[in-house]
Amino acid sequence: MRSSSQLSWRWTSYLCLLSILCALFTPAVMVKENDFKKCSQSGFCKRNRAYADHVEIQGAAWQAPYKISSDKASFKDGQFQATILKTVDDDGRTVTLPVTVSFLKSGAARVTIDEEKRQLKDIELRHDSSARKERYNEAEKWVIVGGLTLDKDATVAQQSETGMTVKYGPDSSFEAEIKYAPFGIDFKRDGAVQVKLNDRGLLNMEHWRAKVEKAEPEKAEGEDGEKQENKAEPAEVPAYLDEGTWFEETFGGNTDTKPRGPESVALDITFPGYEHVFGIPEHTGPLSLKETRGGDGNYNEPYRLYNADVFEYILDSPMTLYGAIPLMQAQRKDSTVGVFWLNGAETWIDIVKAKESKNPLALGLGSKTSTHTHWISESGLLDVFVFLGPTPQDISKTYGELTGTTAMPAEFAIGYHQCRWNYVSDDDVKEVDRKMDKFKIPYDVIWLDIEYTDEKKYFTWDPNMFADPVSMGKQLDDHGRKLVVIIDPHIKNTGGYHVIDELKSKGLAVKNNKGNDFEGWCWPGSSMWVDCFNPAAIKWWTSLFKYDAFKGTLENTYLWNDMNEPSVFNGPEVTMPKDNLHHGGWEHRDVHNINGMTFHNATFEALLSRKKGELHRPFILTRSFFAGSQRLGAMWTGDNQASWEHLGAAVPMILAQGISGFPFAGADVGGFFGNPELELQSRWYQAGAFYPFFRGHAHIDARRREPYMAAEPYRSIITAALRLRYSLMPSWYTAFFHAHRDGSPIIRPMYWTHPSEESGFAVDDQFFVGTTGLLVKPIVEKEKVTADIYIPDNAIYYDYFTYEKLSTHQGKTVSIDAPIEKIPIVMRGGHIFPRRDTPRRSTQLMKFDDYTLVVTLGKDLTAHGELYVDDGDSFDYQKGQYIHRVFDFHQWVLTSTAAPSDEGKNLREGDWLKKFHDVSFDKIIIIGAPSSWEGKTEIEVLSGGKKTKVPFHFNKAEGSRAAFATVGRIGARVGADWEIDFA
Ligand code: NOJ
Repeated sequence: MRSSSQLSWRWTSYLCLLSILCALFTPAVMVKENDFKKCSQSGFCKRNRAYADHVEIQGAAWQAPYKISSDKASFKDGQFQATILKTVDDDGRTVTLPVTVSFLKSGAARVTIDEEKRQLKDIELRHDSSARKERYNEAEKWVIVGGLTLDKDATVAQQSETGMTVKYGPDSSFEAEIKYAPFGIDFKRDGAVQVKLNDRGLLNMEHWRAKVEKAEPEKAEGEDGEKQENKAEPAEVPAYLDEGTWFEETFGGNTDTKPRGPESVALDITFPGYEHVFGIPEHTGPLSLKETRGGDGNYNEPYRLYNADVFEYILDSPMTLYGAIPLMQAQRKDSTVGVFWLNGAETWIDIVKAKESKNPLALGLGSKTSTHTHWISESGLLDVFVFLGPTPQDISKTYGELTGTTAMPAEFAIGYHQCRWNYVSDDDVKEVDRKMDKFKIPYDVIWLDIEYTDEKKYFTWDPNMFADPVSMGKQLDDHGRKLVVIIDPHIKNTGGYHVIDELKSKGLAVKNNKGNDFEGWCWPGSSMWVDCFNPAAIKWWTSLFKYDAFKGTLENTYLWNDMNEPSVFNGPEVTMPKDNLHHGGWEHRDVHNINGMTFHNATFEALLSRKKGELHRPFILTRSFFAGSQRLGAMWTGDNQASWEHLGAAVPMILAQGISGFPFAGADVGGFFGNPELELQSRWYQAGAFYPFFRGHAHIDARRREPYMAAEPYRSIITAALRLRYSLMPSWYTAFFHAHRDGSPIIRPMYWTHPSEESGFAVDDQFFVGTTGLLVKPIVEKEKVTADIYIPDNAIYYDYFTYEKLSTHQGKTVSIDAPIEKIPIVMRGGHIFPRRDTPRRSTQLMKFDDYTLVVTLGKDLTAHGELYVDDGDSFDYQKGQYIHRVFDFHQWVLTSTAAPSDEGKNLREGDWLKKFHDVSFDKIIIIGAPSSWEGKTEIEVLSGGKKTKVPFHFNKAEGSRAAFATVGRIGARVGADWEIDFA
């Protein structure tokens, strides 16, 4: 027992600590934009933009200096190989750039360009650097997990001195027309050009060159015999050849030594006839990306990908944020194509849209606007994948094959997470846990931010405030709940701390440009960073999480990886110097955007091996991410603000994550900085209930705002939103299963579900949830009590809560009431989705509850849906321990059958399936029921050859409310086939 004096001491010290921290971290009004580079402050971006300007000015006279010599081009087994010669001076001197175009079985094509001289390590580094000499060629190692099998059926359709055309893809409907001089590729589908590489001639691979030290300007003899400076004007150098930033670059007082000189890679990619492009998270701003070269409503800066700890970020901006996924998809009516730019270095992307002149050959392209993009990376290979669709689903699937899909999450991970910076003690955590129960508010996970540690030394506990983490963990476990603790990549550089001692003695830290352990500043003060590119570092990191090493953690402890951009408070742009060195001698410059993922990956490995034989699915939230991070856990959008604008900005950001292969995404509910008024907080919970990752979080300065703290009626409103999330959990879990299986987004924008309906392509404030047909439009404006929902098709739509049949028109909005207690949700006719209607306190407690099925009849009186369920915790689903059902309402008969792809595979007996055996569908609600059902009071359920009569209740249509029927006490087992004949 702790005495009350101990407790009051603890509170006093906490308050002191809090006030010190408040003083330290009082947020400024807004991000210091000047702490981060603009394109003109980033040498390679500026040079490449200048190159683009130069090319544009030259117009037709521009001769791109990249040519393939036809005698060296070959094609074999699905792969084209050649060398590009880049002419580098007026004397015709060239450098050699090996190029490969690989045609993959998945239908994707990959274009890779390297530089021979660097490949051969035939270059000199400056400043005695020990960095690698090659262009970074290991991005593939971290990112790609499959889909690289070559399409041996790809064939050369045409070959000449000037180029080669290769047919590939499904039914050979894709074509790559490789042009030799200048080098460029047109990708076609069914004969029409969809994607063009180097069409504008902006391909630029800055080849290696030695630094030529400039001689002192010559001095001529003046009349007086004195030597005078030669005043002749030096010849003007075009800006794209400006040497000023080739060998050294300074920003904000930090100098980048650039030992390999200029080495950027850039390429223009054109999407002819495509007016919309989406993707390349993480940015604030609309889902349909804006133009970046100025003009009304456009940005003046390219979209930037350079993972950074952007404090209090601004909205509607192409500025970089915490994570990067260089995947872009282009959309026109009935066609989606995409590109994936596999490069881990700082990257900028310019976007310009142009009305094309009327061209009869362009007939059938639909839109007359084309989108021109310009991709610019600081270093590495030029490595780009081209996807020809034709549907958004094809892009998600093919990209998922390459980079992996969302890990199937533990079920608790998609429940509600209660976080703040910080719960101050183990007692505090227990108290919050009890209060949530007391107020009957469901939640699954409570979180501990950095203050739980002993002076920011990760893997330790504050001995005063968290004296008994085990009893805290056990109480949570007794209530079926989990604990998440934060572990960041910076390790406190202090004496007597075994983690830093081991990091140093084992040589596993990131090194500075001299090859010594890099030291910088983060939460703990002086720190060093674990280099998770190093397999030995991953192994060591894994050892730190064993239960006997990280004492106080239990099986229900999970992880949060923050600050992994990495955030370095005193570093350039709040991150590491680019000339730092990682495992293998790669410069930080080459791998910066991949860095966060390697840390996330190490923690993932660690959670898989805490104890021999323990096989829980890991859960780790990450702030920084790259293509492939989806395999490892969830992400959130970082430090937002408690404002209506930030609430509004979150949905497009989460949608962008979803279509970019990383759909397990959320935003801090309530807003991180500041104190939301209760209306905003309530609306945020209503929106958050539809984020794939649903966590309330708050800054250390923010007032406590656990859901039960809210005054009525807000407490009930927030509780209702949480309960709705929990009741729809079976549908969420099924949506995650789809994301895991085929890379599809969990919440889906209109263009993704309705790629034929152009009027919906730019809509980004509403979404469908998985395949449920639930269309949600969160309210994001103060005092707004109606929602104008865009309707993308001519299906029937019903209000979720009132069953009102809405009067809708394809491509138009419909207005529905949305007073503060209501989330605007409509149900698209033609779907069947599962729910669990008994309110409980956590997902754990719902595991064996019966289900409700909601059937929303479409115009043709049919409906279709799915349910996927497994133990929600182990990997047994990979061995067939799961149930995947499809539901079909057709000609008055509702059936539940095993999903076709899984027939015969599922229902392998095992512990979970045995326990789940009797879990049943308890209730069915059919909305849009025909009036002919009036008078029925009973109905027969046919299952396992037996017929059972169950109660049936019909409700007549009333006003605009649709007729609906409920079937009760069905008792049809979830794992069994059954049918109900309503005729
Ligand atoms: C920054 C994170 O974005 C935030 O969520 C967290 O609370 C603080 N770091 C403290 O760990």
